[in-house]
Amino acid sequence: MKAVIDEVVAKPYFQQKHCTRWKQNVVQKDESFQRKSILRQGKANFITGESDLTPDQTALLYCRHYLQMHLMSSRYLFDVYADSQFGREFPLNPDQITMIDFGCGPMTSGLALAWHYQERHNTKLAMNYFGIDHAPAMLKLAKNFSQNNQLFSQNSNFHFLTECDNSKVLIKYIKSVENQHQKYPVFLNFSYLFASDSLDQCQLVNIINNTLEYFNKRSFIILFQNPPLPYLNQKWFDFKKQLAYKFDAIQGEIKLPYYEYQFLEQNRSEIMKPRINLYYEIISI
Ligand SMILES: C[S@@+](CC[C@H](N)C(=O)[O-])C[C@H]1O[C@@H](n2cnc3c(N)ncnc32)[C@H](O)[C@@H]1O
Repeated sequence: MKAVIDEVVAKPYFQQKHCTRWKQNVVQKDESFQRKSILRQGKANFITGESDLTPDQTALLYCRHYLQMHLMSSRYLFDVYADSQFGREFPLNPDQITMIDFGCGPMTSGLALAWHYQERHNTKLAMNYFGIDHAPAMLKLAKNFSQNNQLFSQNSNFHFLTECDNSKVLIKYIKSVENQHQKYPVFLNFSYLFASDSLDQCQLVNIINNTLEYFNKRSFIILFQNPPLPYLNQKWFDFKKQLAYKFDAIQGEIKLPYYEYQFLEQNRSEIMKPRINLYYEIISI
């Protein structure tokens, strides 16, 4: 994972050092300012960019502060899934994983799934991955990650889109990569999306309900994660109330310790970071 981060994030990050607005807005500010005032704790506008930074620069700064943290919590979620009753019923199958990642950012959860898979099964993952994010700058990073052949097998299939306002897009994608009788679930992933001010959870739940209705014989697994703060998760609770299908759920809250690779430092060591405050739900439909 370090080599992948070096290639996709560290390299373009270092190239910014010649840019005056990067120097003024990032280099000359402390880390806390970068997280709170520029990235607004992850809620930055990655379409327009923040604090005079371009969208690409804002997305890179996001990766600097949040990519490894979210990679770790997503990785944790896949571990929980694999060891749960859901994972025993539907083990992650290397050739039949379809994941639709809403608000995918730089493809954090796709990377985490590949990482989980490689460590547990000692082989590269082949997956059908559909990343949706309204910010082209994020999708650019996601595409760069998807091209890394250290993580994904050549049989993987990647599809990216800035907009998904109806279920037809999802249905068409799932049909194009799978056959109708597939018995493995489709994963719908929502990682740190539901605090977004621009998210219309009513529209989203309609899209999901219509997709579930179309594939009414198929299983779906929904993965949700966010900090355990009620005001950030209100849209998620609304979304769940409007799901038209019965489901089983696993939920948990944990303070997750993790190490972070210091790709900006000369010695490029790993340091222990404060614990990630995580609330998660895994829903099986
Ligand atoms: C906090 S980041 C999370 C990124 C990634 N899922 C992760 O775990 O690192 C939220 C992402 O959702 C995207 N986003 C926010 N609101 C959105 C919306 N209404 N539609 C599509 N994408 C959205 C943002 O552009 C951003 O990339």
